[in-house]
Amino acid sequence: MNADEILRRLDELRAADLPTHGGRTMAYVYDSGLADADELGKQALAMYASTNGLDPTAFPSLLAMERDLVGFARTLFHGADEVVGTVTSGGTESILLAVQAARDALPGATQPVMIVPTTIHAAFHKAAHYFGVERVSVPVDPVTKRANAAAMTAAMDTYGDRVVLVAASAPSYAHGVIDPIEAIASEALARGVRFHVDACIGGWVLPWAEHLGRDVPPWDFRVPGVTSISADLHKYAYTPKGVSLLLHATPYLRKSQYFASADWPGYTMLNATTQSTKSGGPLAAAWAVVNLIGDEGYRDLARTTFEGTAALVAGIEQQEHVRLVVRPDSSLVTLETDGACDVFTISDEMLMRGWFVQPQMSFGDMPASVHLTVSAATAPAVPEFLVALAESVRAAVDVGPIRIDEELRAAAIAIDPETLDDEAFDGLLALAGLGSGGGEVTVPERMAPVNALLDVAPPALREALLIAFLDRLSR
Ligand SMILES: Cc1ncc(COP(=O)(O)O)c(C=O)c1O
Repeated sequence: MNADEILRRLDELRAADLPTHGGRTMAYVYDSGLADADELGKQALAMYASTNGLDPTAFPSLLAMERDLVGFARTLFHGADEVVGTVTSGGTESILLAVQAARDALPGATQPVMIVPTTIHAAFHKAAHYFGVERVSVPVDPVTKRANAAAMTAAMDTYGDRVVLVAASAPSYAHGVIDPIEAIASEALARGVRFHVDACIGGWVLPWAEHLGRDVPPWDFRVPGVTSISADLHKYAYTPKGVSLLLHATPYLRKSQYFASADWPGYTMLNATTQSTKSGGPLAAAWAVVNLIGDEGYRDLARTTFEGTAALVAGIEQQEHVRLVVRPDSSLVTLETDGACDVFTISDEMLMRGWFVQPQMSFGDMPASVHLTVSAATAPAVPEFLVALAESVRAAVDVGPIRIDEELRAAAIAIDPETLDDEAFDGLLALAGLGSGGGEVTVPERMAPVNALLDVAPPALREALLIAFLDRLSR
């Protein structure tokens, strides 16, 4: 192919994706609405695409930019001079490293445990799985959806010396509320346990919320007992994808995050992150965008975002059949229905009207819901969003809540996730209308029936089905 053909093909491929700009994709992407910041980010990304963060002595530019970004965040999060940090590839990597560092700081802990609220991001589940740390998930308050500090403290005492890490969110992804960081931190401190605050989604918006005079409960390094914080730049810092920060309160706390191996004939491998060779592009892009937008720019973006969130909340409160799950502490809004319709149908209807909203499956006593991430570019479109939502709810009420075919439900629930094989999965796909039984999968335009079916599956089965689905997609 020649370059023109390739670019045309890339364009064609992109046409099937969700839009990354325009504020109508309310999960996965963050849009500042600032064309100059986007352009500069792309330039910096391209300039540094081939640099290698493997060796900071070979590419000192990357070290300099990392130190700048960490310095910016240290001030923003009220860290003392000894706060140190690492640029990672995303929220999940920051969390993986926080868990791994906590585990490896206590090599004597033979059955390490981490204590988290049930609303903690699933990246902690992945870390537990990867690093052999037992996860103790403590139920959150059923009304506020915030972590229950007393119950987390009781769990710290139950597991005693085995506890290597406690974590909570500022705010949580699913409900957008800030956990009681101070109360949990003081108990972790009293027991000498590390306490990580997951501010992956809140880290670049809550500080300016506070500057704007909003009531933000303390969550950063001002709180004694907070030993590490994750904050993603590829979220509310509006930088290109692939950048997050992991900050530790002291260099000592970070030490076990590092990995070195001299036990082979090649170069001594020396890494602060899970990746070894890594492009300097995302870091350079983040450095460029953060310096361009700067403190005042982020304050303006936060103001716009919170105005948009407030308008969204007020508009939703006036609509029939949908309600807020909880009042958000930040810029994430979660809706549920009164039972007259399904959130899954609402999501489909919204997509047909050009809005991507993210369905969240039911969990324990929490019914299925719809997640909305508000970014600065969404704010001006909130009135249009509310019209689309009202229409979507009406359409969903007209068809009523989804009733799952009994045969399908019985077939799905009878599957043992441990033994889900190709044949069983093919049969289920065919029954669900997602394939002909010959192995291929088709993604339907309307996802609601599939989501509703997944929603009745126990979590372990849902995980197995989705893994099988992903495997098929990529075969
Ligand atoms: C609170 C929180 N933690 C962690 C993550 C994981 O971040 P990433 O998708 O960048 O790995 C997210 C992503 O939305 C998040 O909201």
